[in-house]
Order: sequence, then structure tokens, then C-alpha cells
Amino acid sequence: MGEPLATALAEVRDLLLGDGLLRAVAAGRRRGAQPSAPRVELRAVTVSAGRRVVVTERHERVPLTRTLDAAALVPAVDALLAEPFGNWHVEHAGGTLQLRVTKRGEAQVHRSSRAADDAPAAPAASHDRAKQHRLPPDDPLFDAVGAGAAKRRQVDAFLGRLDDVVPAQPADRPLRVVDLGCGNAYLTLAAHRWLSRRGPVETVGVDVRDDVIARNTELVGRIGETGVRFVVDSAGRWEPDAAPDVVLALHACDTATDEALAQAVGWGARAVLAAPCCHKDLRRQVDARAGHAVDGAGAALRPMLRDGILRSRLLDTATDALRADLLRLHGYRTDAVELVDPEHTPRNTLLRAVRTGAAAPAGLAEEVEATCAALGVRPRLADLLA
Ligand SMILES: C[S@@+](CC[C@H](N)C(=O)[O-])C[C@H]1O[C@@H](n2cnc3c(N)ncnc32)[C@H](O)[C@@H]1O
Repeated sequence: MGEPLATALAEVRDLLLGDGLLRAVAAGRRRGAQPSAPRVELRAVTVSAGRRVVVTERHERVPLTRTLDAAALVPAVDALLAEPFGNWHVEHAGGTLQLRVTKRGEAQVHRSSRAADDAPAAPAASHDRAKQHRLPPDDPLFDAVGAGAAKRRQVDAFLGRLDDVVPAQPADRPLRVVDLGCGNAYLTLAAHRWLSRRGPVETVGVDVRDDVIARNTELVGRIGETGVRFVVDSAGRWEPDAAPDVVLALHACDTATDEALAQAVGWGARAVLAAPCCHKDLRRQVDARAGHAVDGAGAALRPMLRDGILRSRLLDTATDALRADLLRLHGYRTDAVELVDPEHTPRNTLLRAVRTGAAAPAGLAEEVEATCAALGVRPRLADLLA
């Protein structure tokens, strides 16, 4: 059943101007009419001066962004509501509202409310380290991408770690973020949405699989997420138009993590976060020494190489330790931290690096060489950075 359009738009207006607004998108067009921009997005942010709403209009591929205080927001919202958009999607503290204008010029409205104890926190400032979900587990985004509970926790933990190192918002352009080995874009979209609370962000998800990239591209069109695109390419081969500021890789398979790290170093990315998975590189090299995996190593390492499971764990650890040191050797302050409780994933190491350009500690290169020599390996990342 349609509702009078004016009444429904008045409800949208209240939500857009209310303190509970999280995000809204206006898109599409009414019959026989054309809005001045194909899509407009509003996001509530909290900056040091207080609450603001960032309004981003998409014109072709060039976004026009304004950050408005409460007074400036009123005429901006009234102007947007006067535009002949075909759809409004509003996410607010109480739930979501979906408005579609029918061919008869009526409003079809779908309202869903959020349980009181699921209410999301107010938009957080970039420095807000309160222990709360970055994106609440019931954020509609997770449903849209189809993320299960474990992936929601991983992604939320990743956003928490990202907060610690994300560079300042550039003054004259969007922050550029790339997610290498993005898969189904759980992290890509969550990071994009999370970082967009601080200012404009351009995010690219890269994956070798064309089916997931096609799905992700369709998805962002459907949910009206702006500023994100997806590319079919390999992490190590993809070349951006402009160097990314932030490089992410969540469980990029095996040496795809090394490709992501090497690309980040080559681009001079300011922050790099990679949670590796399936470490096969060093295992392959050690196991290839048929019969000599143990004997070929020094006495100190033999106890840890004898049994398969211990050998795997040692080599997993060695892989990530060497990756961290190689990043340090290339001017990155790096630490390895726990991503999330192991009950949610055994792949719970996160390498986190910030470019400082500082010289590496004396003797570090020799330590890396000594570890490689003791294990009889040459890490893929060392080759890629050579
Ligand atoms: C385990 S999935 C993780 C996906 C996603 N980051 C997540 O956490 O849900 C690994 C993804 O890396 C992609 N991949 C593997 N090797 C790659 C490479 N060399 N370059 C780009 N993507 C790669 C795979 O296609 C797959 O989608």
C-alpha cells in the first residue's frame, strides 16, 4: 500500500536532521524526472568540533563532498528532498527506513527497527578507543555481504587494529585504501564505511577471481555504497592510478600476502595491515629437502622440525617474523599482534606496519640472513623486495 509521498518525505527529513542518523543514500529517479546527481550519500561523523554530516554527491566519477554542521544541514536536506530521487535508504540509531517512489508518485516505505540493546553507538571520532563494536554485528552491511558471525568478529577486530595506525585524512583528496585478495569484500566494505566516518575515502578491492568481483560490483550498486570499486587482478600485478595510503589484506592466500606487502612497500603506503593465512612458502622449501628437512638444519632447530605439526607452526611463525623484519628493513615500524580470539579463527596473527622512513635497527639485515640460513629458506617477500 502506498503512502502519501509528502508525509513519507517528512519522516525522512526528521531522520536526516535527527541525532540518530548514521547514513543515508538517495538514488534513482522518479518517472520522467532527473535529479541533479545520480546518487547522494549522507554520513554522520564526529569531529573535534562536534557532530557533522558529510554529504557526498556523485557526478559521473567525480565526488563532490561537503561537511555540514546542524545549521547548514537543514537547507541542504531540504534541497535534497526536493530533488526527484526514486529511492531513499536511511540507517539510523533506531533501525532503517527504505522509501521507494512508485510510478503513481506514491511512497512505498519499509521500516525495520533495531532491538533496543542492539542500538549502535553514536558515530565515533577517529581517536575514540572505547571498547565497542566499530560496526555493530547487526549492521545491515553484514547482512548485505552475507558475512557469518566469525567473519563479522574478524572484520570488527581488524577495524579496531586499523584505527590505531590509519593516517590522518588528506586535506585535498580522499584517503585511498586498497584491499588485496578482497574475496567477498567483507573487510573492503566495512573498512570503507568505517573510514568514511572521518572524511572521503576511495577504496578498491582486488581479487584474482572474476566471479567474486562481479558479485561485489553488483552488491555495491544494490546497496548504494559510493567510492568503492572492484578489480579483477592479482595482488602483485595490479597497478593503481595513484598510490594507496592504506593497504589491507585479510587472509590473502599464501604468498598473496607477500605480494600485498611488497606492493605496499613499493607504493610507499603509509599504513599496512595484513592477516596472513595458509603459510605454504617456507613449508614447501623445507619439505622439498626430502629426508633432509631435519638433518639439514642446525642442532638448535632440529627438535622443532622433527614432527610435522611443530614444523608447520615453527615455519608459520618464521614466515611472519621474517615478513615483519623485512618491512622494518624498508622503513616501516611494524608489530605482530593478535587479530581476534583464536576461537574465531586460527589465522589470527596481524602484521601492522606504519611507514616512518626510519633506518632499520643495526644488525637486523644480518639477523634475517641468519634465520633464513638456519632454516635453509628464502622467503617470497625477500625476493619480491629485492
Ligand atoms: C581466504 S580468501 C579471503 C578473502 C577476504 N579477504 C576475506 O577475508 O574474507 C582469499 C582470497 O584471496 C584471493 N587471492 C588468492 N591469491 C591472490 C592473488 N595473488 N591476488 C589477488 N587475490 C588473490 C582469493 O581469490 C580469495 O578470494
